[in-house]
Amino acid sequence: MGPQNTSFFNTLLFQLFAANAQVPEPITLFGTSTNDIAPEPEIPLLFGHRGDKINLPEHTIPAYEMAMASAIDYIEPDLVLTKDQVPVCFHDIFLHPGTDVKERPEFDHLKTTNRTIKLRDVTHYITSNWLVSNFTWAELKTLRVIQKAKGIRPKYFDRMFGIPSFDEFMEIAHRYTWKQQFIRNYDGRKRPIIGLMPELKHARYHDAIGGSQHYMVETIVKALEKWGYSRNEKAKPSRCLYNGTEIPCNPMLVQALDPVAVEYLRNTTTYQLLCLMDTANLRWLTYKGMAEMKGKTDWLCFLKSLLFTGTPAQIKRESLVDWNKTEIEELGGFIKPNKIVPYAKKLGFKVAVHTIYSSWEDSERGCAVRCTNETKEQEMHYFFKMGVNGFFVEGIEESIKIRQEYFGKKLISKWGMAGANSLFTVDSSAIACNFNWTAFTANISKGDNILAILQASILINAASALVKIRRIQSFNTVLELIGIM
Ligand SMILES: *[C@@H]1O[C@H](CO)[C@@H](O)[C@H](O)[C@H]1NC(C)=O
Ligand SMILES: *[C@@H]1O[C@H](CO)[C@@H](O)[C@H](O)[C@H]1NC(C)=O
Ligand SMILES: *[C@@H]1O[C@H](CO)[C@@H](O)[C@H](O)[C@H]1NC(C)=O
Ligand SMILES: *[C@@H]1O[C@H](CO)[C@@H](O)[C@H](O)[C@H]1NC(C)=O
Ligand SMILES: *[C@@H]1O[C@H](CO)[C@@H](O)[C@H](O)[C@H]1NC(C)=O
Ligand SMILES: *[C@@H]1O[C@H](CO)[C@@H](O)[C@H](O)[C@H]1NC(C)=O
Ligand SMILES: *[C@@H]1O[C@H](CO)[C@@H](O)[C@H](O)[C@H]1NC(C)=O
Ligand SMILES: *[C@@H]1O[C@H](CO)[C@@H](O)[C@H](O)[C@H]1NC(C)=O
Repeated sequence: MGPQNTSFFNTLLFQLFAANAQVPEPITLFGTSTNDIAPEPEIPLLFGHRGDKINLPEHTIPAYEMAMASAIDYIEPDLVLTKDQVPVCFHDIFLHPGTDVKERPEFDHLKTTNRTIKLRDVTHYITSNWLVSNFTWAELKTLRVIQKAKGIRPKYFDRMFGIPSFDEFMEIAHRYTWKQQFIRNYDGRKRPIIGLMPELKHARYHDAIGGSQHYMVETIVKALEKWGYSRNEKAKPSRCLYNGTEIPCNPMLVQALDPVAVEYLRNTTTYQLLCLMDTANLRWLTYKGMAEMKGKTDWLCFLKSLLFTGTPAQIKRESLVDWNKTEIEELGGFIKPNKIVPYAKKLGFKVAVHTIYSSWEDSERGCAVRCTNETKEQEMHYFFKMGVNGFFVEGIEESIKIRQEYFGKKLISKWGMAGANSLFTVDSSAIACNFNWTAFTANISKGDNILAILQASILINAASALVKIRRIQSFNTVLELIGIM
């Protein structure tokens, strides 16, 4: 998946690295973030939900690259397994409508019809679809990803990118980390090392296919060990390599919704763990139930409605009928929405929420009627005030901006973040690094160069430049820019 117009890309590379063709000198660039360390706990971390899924199709290499270029703290690949046990980055076990599989007659024979499947204790009836687990990696990688139709997400990129394997994801993450050594924010600081937070999707479903109890966890741990994340080393491995060169290791946070998978990971690895919390695990939303989880995970990440309208309202919203009121009462009842964060923190957990959407989409907090017309700022402030430590966000640039504005003084004094708000104003650093945007954008032509731009964004942080243009000249500018290609 290289750039289609390589000569253009090479020209760009040459321009950037002309001064030293082998090892680029540190380049001073307009950066979006602060430092080479992750923010301290009181400044919440931002997790790029499925990459930068607002601008690009979720879980594609360009979506991950865009998120990295925007200097998000962590990026999230969801993981499912192919028929030949290759972990791949995809949200669903179904391939339609997230890919072009329906338009590919060569895969008709792999279609699943009229079959029931059990996921998260809920039985789904599949009338007609394709399962990732029926495709080998060789077959799966020929499919093209389709952006889910929602809000203003551009459909322009449909059918341009494939589903990445987890190895491909790690490759670009390590490549980016390697490049980070040569890139400085314009205040002279190194850019932060991006954190990685793979999520094991549907562990029990994959265990059943694999034929052993902790099949999925073991498969993913093997994949992680291959990249230096030994199950016996705390949080970070001691040594990571990119193309034979030692690089700083990316922080790694492994997540799952399945309590058994999380507990097994805790029992058998030293990884940092994040457990997703929604109505699938009602027991854990009670006083005694949450206390039982103490020590079994580092993070609890709540569906945000649980901290807003609360668990009973969410149960009602999802029309859940099959839950045991007696059991919940015996466990002390559901924790009140505004008490969940302090209670979880008292038990020693870090607390995160999912998901804060783009300001162009409904907040979907699960309000009983329609959600109030609060702004995204108001929504994030609500959780900042509660002391939430991490946010799954979409609309990465604006999320970073909201955090900067809220914690601005603290961020600046802690990390000497000169120009913390530079992201949303054109600054002279683009000129300082001799980058000619006029020439660059002049060369964008029909159908060919978007990949080069995305690739280039990794080198020069052009993703934020694109967003800068969008902010300054209205949203349509980028769509037009993209639309002309
Ligand atoms: C898909 O895989 C399952 C086993 O996981 C198998 O039972 C089924 O026959 C396969 N379906 C197709 C269409 O190959
Ligand atoms: C699936 O079920 C539908 C409705 O019952 C039926 O019309 C169809 O023929 C079935 N398809 C297959 C492949 O069995
Ligand atoms: C890997 O390293 C070799 C030797 O230093 C170099 O020739 C090659 O271009 C590098 N590959 C990448 C993808 O950086
Ligand atoms: C984890 O270890 C505890 C203590 O040994 C054990 O009781 C529990 O069953 C284990 N859980 C899993 C999922 O392996
Ligand atoms: C509900 O929970 C109570 C207490 O834990 C238990 O005795 C009862 O069997 C449960 N009922 C069902 C239907 O599972
Ligand atoms: C929501 O919008 C309506 C009309 O645009 C306005 O009247 C109302 O005050 C707003 N509510 C809040 C809570 O901002
Ligand atoms: C940037 O590129 C444009 C178009 O190629 C050119 O007209 C302009 O002179 C260049 N600016 C600089 C500072 O080199
Ligand atoms: C733009 O394309 C032209 C023609 O291919 C080339 O001469 C020029 O160097 C390119 N400019 C940039 C900035 O890549």
